[in-house]
Amino acid sequence: MERQPEVVAVGVVDAVPNIDQGHSNNHSQNQERATVVFTPSGLRGDFALGTPVLQAAQQLGVDLESSCGGRGICRRCIVTPSFGEFSKHKISSKEANLSALSDAEQSNKFIALSLGQRLSCSARIQGDLVVDVPASSQLHKQHISKEATPLELLIDPAVKLYTLQLAEPDMDDPSSDLGKLQQQLAARYSIIVNHCELSVIQQLQPALVAGKREISVAVYLEPKVQQQQFAQVIALWPGTKLGLYGLAVDLGSTTIAAHLCELSSGKVLASSSLMNPQIRFGEDLMSRVSYVMMNPGGDTQMCTVVREAFNQLARDVVKKADIDIGDIIDMSIVCNPIMHHLLLGIDPTPLGTAPFALTTDLALNLKAAQLDILLHPNARAYILPCLAGHIGADTAGMILAQRPDQTDEVTLLVDIGTNAEIVLGNRHRLLAASSPTGPAFEGAQISCGQRAAIGAIERVRIDPQSLEPAFKIIGCDVWSNESGFAEASKKITISGICGSGIIEVIGELFMAGVINSDGVINQQADKPSARVLAQDRTFSYVLHDSDKPLLITQNDVRAIQLAKAALYAGVKLLMDHLQVTQLDRISLAGAFGSHIDVKYAMLLGLIPDCDLARVKPIGNAAGTGARIALHNLDQRSEISRILERVEKIETATEAAFQEHFVAAMALPHLNDEYIELSKVLTLPERKQQAAVGRGARSSGRRRARKS
Ligand code: FES
Repeated sequence: MERQPEVVAVGVVDAVPNIDQGHSNNHSQNQERATVVFTPSGLRGDFALGTPVLQAAQQLGVDLESSCGGRGICRRCIVTPSFGEFSKHKISSKEANLSALSDAEQSNKFIALSLGQRLSCSARIQGDLVVDVPASSQLHKQHISKEATPLELLIDPAVKLYTLQLAEPDMDDPSSDLGKLQQQLAARYSIIVNHCELSVIQQLQPALVAGKREISVAVYLEPKVQQQQFAQVIALWPGTKLGLYGLAVDLGSTTIAAHLCELSSGKVLASSSLMNPQIRFGEDLMSRVSYVMMNPGGDTQMCTVVREAFNQLARDVVKKADIDIGDIIDMSIVCNPIMHHLLLGIDPTPLGTAPFALTTDLALNLKAAQLDILLHPNARAYILPCLAGHIGADTAGMILAQRPDQTDEVTLLVDIGTNAEIVLGNRHRLLAASSPTGPAFEGAQISCGQRAAIGAIERVRIDPQSLEPAFKIIGCDVWSNESGFAEASKKITISGICGSGIIEVIGELFMAGVINSDGVINQQADKPSARVLAQDRTFSYVLHDSDKPLLITQNDVRAIQLAKAALYAGVKLLMDHLQVTQLDRISLAGAFGSHIDVKYAMLLGLIPDCDLARVKPIGNAAGTGARIALHNLDQRSEISRILERVEKIETATEAAFQEHFVAAMALPHLNDEYIELSKVLTLPERKQQAAVGRGARSSGRRRARKS
């Protein structure tokens, strides 16, 4: 299966010998060396057999802690090797490719040997390997930005708490205790109980005794069917119970974020995020589908690790909020279709090939325990509906958060990840598509790219005359050209550039004339600069000069052009279908969309021209949708109703997509006008009908189909 150009080494490799930038892994010709790929960074290299994994990681610049000098004492260097066929990396990672457990590992009770963890300072390379560095072992913890967006909620949750005082048993009233409970709910709250969990029935009389006939019950209300409201009693406590909680979870392919919310108020009590542990099986979605195809049982492995991640997040948030995990009674989940299937234990491989068939697009009302998520034993789990094979419950969440169906304005919603989910329309018509942008916006495919973490360059300015850069790194508030930068950043290694930084540096180079509208880096005759380096037949720009220089290469610019052209082409396709040429409002969702400067996004042509004041980052809109669904039962029905009328456009089968893609390779675009942007920026002259079209045709991306 082939979808996009593969991610290759994403670290700074020039200064490190023996590091493989490509995928030549035939070690049968050279049995003395082996290839090791580290996830989630994607850094890879060739190493002599017998090299400790920690040493390999350090040579590559992998973010892996060690504070005892590799003596097996500090336990900071724990890694999790992943075994199986990794077609993306062209690696067969086997258990035998690592040395046997060392004495230090066998005697160290803190290492979860049963989970396959190893001390990287003890484990030695004996063959090709894929090795995951868990967040707990990363020195510079991932900068995960899926905070809860401030939100006004209409509170009417699916699970409600009622406190009841039941009458004492009476010879003259033969009704049972459960009958009395049902009668009170019906009489006082018009709730018809149609089911009661066995565990509740078993606890009922002891609870009545303990509470002196006062009990609190959690009632799960099902979405109304023909105006009938049915209800299930799913939990009870003696006396008056104060507070029930819910989890809203955004299950992304890169990160998973959970918000612990008070169901009666909507207040977010605690949030927690972690890297999706499935990353070690494949960085992007299609790699994970490919892993399942190549490794029988791979879907079960990924299902298990993601469910454990949910449990980890639940434990984290209850610890932060100091509540009992058994008081979490409901949860809502948004995710893309492949995450959806892997969480549910459904084979995702049909989603990897045309016609990208979903097993189900319905909203799902489950018990959390069915997903092995350990909350209250009868806690419910609601998964928002999906739209199509590439447009999932996360897009449903974004629609619920933004409600483009309630406005006359032509609204564009974009959530940019390795796929861009795009929704366009207004109250009259809504369309949705997914466009394969690839991982370049997340730092992959960029020679010095990295995910957003401490030490990553996130902001860039370039003097248009001297071409000297100034930048800002995550973890330091001082710009590199300001006094105090050396002091403020002395404990931080400037390790690479993250998505927002890539967009800015290319935008600044374009404005300075170093990059032309074809995306070609050139030395300028009128202002030659040592920052613009000739390398073979292309030029690179030296963004940061050190013993491991950070370069923006021609290939980096091309990777961003491919990604942005895919996004723009998807948007244009929807504009064609909607028969509009102008947008009233653009909302950019997700971590990348929330951190990029919208002016640079428009300058590079990620998005069409629009009044800049009407282009807004909207934060984690999918997660906001999950919170809305957690707190409001009617909104669960509402999103299913809205999705019924969303028109799904499949970019892979539309001939116009490729034409739009080719035109969108130019900066900002081959022929689309940027009138609004020109009001705030003097755009560089664009070249007419540039050669970029030919290059784009040869490397244009389509959603892959299995041949
Ligand atoms: S580096 Fe300290 S235990 Fe491995």
